[in-house]
Amino acid sequence: MKITMIGTGYVGLVTGTCLAEFGHHVTCVDKVAGKIEQLREGKIPIYEPGLEALVHKNVNEKRLCFTTDLASAVPGAEAIFIAVGTPTSRRGDGYADLTYIFAASKEIAPHLRGYTVIIDKSTVPVGTAAQVERIIHQENPAADFDVASNPEFLREGAAINDFMRPDRVVIGVKNDRARHMLQEVYKPLFLRDTPIVCTTVETAELIKYAANAFLAVKISFINEMANVCESIGADISALARAIGMDGRIGGKFLHPGPGYGGSCFPKDTLALMRIVQEHGESLHIVAAAVEVNAAQKARMVKKIRDMLGGSEAGKTIGILGLTFKPETDDMREAPSVTIIPTLLERGARIKAHDPQGMEEAQGYLPGEVEYMKDAYQVCEDADAVVLMTEWNQYRALDLERVKKLLRKPIFIDLRNVYDPEKMRSLGFQYTGVGRSLNP
Ligand code: UGA
Repeated sequence: MKITMIGTGYVGLVTGTCLAEFGHHVTCVDKVAGKIEQLREGKIPIYEPGLEALVHKNVNEKRLCFTTDLASAVPGAEAIFIAVGTPTSRRGDGYADLTYIFAASKEIAPHLRGYTVIIDKSTVPVGTAAQVERIIHQENPAADFDVASNPEFLREGAAINDFMRPDRVVIGVKNDRARHMLQEVYKPLFLRDTPIVCTTVETAELIKYAANAFLAVKISFINEMANVCESIGADISALARAIGMDGRIGGKFLHPGPGYGGSCFPKDTLALMRIVQEHGESLHIVAAAVEVNAAQKARMVKKIRDMLGGSEAGKTIGILGLTFKPETDDMREAPSVTIIPTLLERGARIKAHDPQGMEEAQGYLPGEVEYMKDAYQVCEDADAVVLMTEWNQYRALDLERVKKLLRKPIFIDLRNVYDPEKMRSLGFQYTGVGRSLNP
């Protein structure tokens, strides 16, 4: 099949590359000439494990190419994916900004040839596909097309596996013609008996928001329970494990931490609340999850301050991990972006390391942050070390060395990577999230 992907951001690039790997001929289009140039030179603008090799393979096998020229990429394409950004609107009202989606729809319209399915891949409010349809029809009344919704469920850091072996594929279509086209697109997954949920366009659009909102609720729930554990003297790890063994609850997404971040949960929870408000409904549970998440970040600052004896002023704090999660260089809405500036404002000196995110971090964090070459340099002469993101590199630290390097053996583990008993027996003043009272 001939497929065109509009947008080479995270979702567009991963989806386009994986579809080429399925055997389709994929042209990825982006307006940013520098990005296309980079991709043509084989350089990948984001860090995503396995992506670079897959791009190179499919480019070499001539199934994947990159262009800025939308007019040449659209004619003859049987399926056109729209995977442009939908950031939170600058108006600050929580709405998703659909400017890029509508602009792409307008641009595609005059170049359509033959029956084409236009597929919204970006996370978009309910009703967007209908608007895209209207725009294209207005621009080119003769065009023979359908608009479908096919939300993505890719996790950064695991996106290729999520695409190739998804829990399910959701397809929102208006008719059988569009459904057959999408079945062709995902044929390798159909052949592997992947569960496919075929539904209306509006339901598909809402499924994506509901999934992300539910996961955000799960995280905020476990974070609140972790806080309760701290007050009661109970252990969140055992609690999460035990409730997760109940098949109705499920053990995933029950890891407490400094709050969820990233480009999806914070944006999508806000957008969903706006969407339902417009329909005269409310989502109290999602609103509470958002509130709990903000409070969790603030609580982490207090946790650090308490461990430092009540004040950060004049203290050197080492930070391990800056990105919102491991295996990505993405800093969007990372807890570090809220926590570090507060510590700096209160007079702390910050030494930090991240395996992939340090370049990106410079655009998100104040200039005073000092970037170190590894975890041990971070610990050198620090008054405390904070494990912020659970990169594998930080899971097996030489703890004796860490202790010797630190000015005071204070270890604040915001991802519960280490065993509290072991840390204490090594002589650390250790705290995690919800695992014990401060020593
Ligand atoms: C999320 C969803 O998991 C994907 O299914 C979805 O496709 C994607 O958003 C999207 O909408 O595009 P992602 O943002 O890459 O994926 O990352 P997650 O692995 O979901 O983690 C999000 C945040 O939650 C991270 O900050 C992570 O540290 C935190 N988290 C996750 C926890 O604090 N505890 C957990 O148990 C799980």
